[in-house]
Amino acid sequence: MARVATCIPSMDYSAVADSIQPDLTVVGPEGPLAAGIVDQFRAQGRAIVGPTAAAAQLESSKVFAKEFMRRAGIPTARFAVAETAEEARRSLRQFGLPVVLKADGLAAGKGVVVASTSEQAEEAIPQLLRPGARLVIEEFLPGGEVSFIVLSDGHNVLPLEASQDHKAAYDGDTGPNTGGMGAYCDGRILTSAEAQRVMDSIIRPAIETMRAEDRLFTGFLYAGLMMTSDGPSVLEFNARLGDPETQALLHRMRSDFVPALVDSARSALSGHSFEWKPDPSVCVVMAAAGYPGDVRSGDPIFGVEDAGGAVVFQAGTRADNEALLTSGGRVLGVTASGPDLSTAIANTYGEVAKIRFAGCTTAPILARKA
Ligand code: AMP
Ligand code: GLY
Repeated sequence: MARVATCIPSMDYSAVADSIQPDLTVVGPEGPLAAGIVDQFRAQGRAIVGPTAAAAQLESSKVFAKEFMRRAGIPTARFAVAETAEEARRSLRQFGLPVVLKADGLAAGKGVVVASTSEQAEEAIPQLLRPGARLVIEEFLPGGEVSFIVLSDGHNVLPLEASQDHKAAYDGDTGPNTGGMGAYCDGRILTSAEAQRVMDSIIRPAIETMRAEDRLFTGFLYAGLMMTSDGPSVLEFNARLGDPETQALLHRMRSDFVPALVDSARSALSGHSFEWKPDPSVCVVMAAAGYPGDVRSGDPIFGVEDAGGAVVFQAGTRADNEALLTSGGRVLGVTASGPDLSTAIANTYGEVAKIRFAGCTTAPILARKA
């Protein structure tokens, strides 16, 4: 980012805004949304894309999201909420196996355990049930996952193309869940009838019910879907663009993104549509040794400048004089495209192979309809 912009690392958003007077603010991660950056900037008359803290609860509280979906009639897995370990153990008996356990608050994609045995489920309880926090226990839904993201001003809704992220840490779809080891975007992930059904049964009821409940949802609404034999069902909502999905999505966007962002911040998001390049895109995350657990930092990274056939976004890196070093879990996102999905995958891994750092992990992209 530092090559194309001035970076000001700070958690004091108001002070940064006072000093640079932004025309438009687009919020990336969930932390500042849950902390109320949108409420604060709007009160100061600044244009900003994102939901208020009250609306961002769709992401920041799994319990809120599940109860909201029940009120709004949005399809989602059957669930129970537990406040204590004893209650959680009792609730587990209402569900078969596998079963899914979710910590209530924000957890950077690491607060969910899919347990395939009762022992794994029992072990997950103390791990996820932090003091004062609740646990959601829910039925496991089989199917293919799809990330469906829309931009809204609380009334109008502008859908982006569907994408899919790859959650499991290791090869062969094994290992713990992560925030996403890679993603792809292809115009054929959903048929237009499937996309319409997602809009009618999930997105519109969500936007309308939020408005009716006085939590106007503005900004990006991300529905993490399971495409079950009974239709799409919501696994989670995020109140922002997905990572790494957005790296693959924006690679395919032909339209200028900015006018739609400006109009969503002005509550005037009508008359827009997005155009997409036909070639599928693929993003592969290069993660540090240990991810998604405790990671090793400080390993030198080589070859980023050789990967000219890809867009390489740096996430967990830091510069030390001339050297580029690992500094975080998901270190780099490498995105490329190709005329079909398998060529796009091969092209992306070809670029990944040019980049090296000790202990690097990548997982393969498993395409639902490749
Ligand atoms: P979440 O943060 O709620 O989306 O959960 C993270 C990941 O866990 C999802 O992307 C799925 O891979 C998996 N998962 C969550 N809930 C379920 C469910 N009810 N059935 C099957 N897999 C699930
Ligand atoms: N890749 C899923 C997320 O951004 O939460």
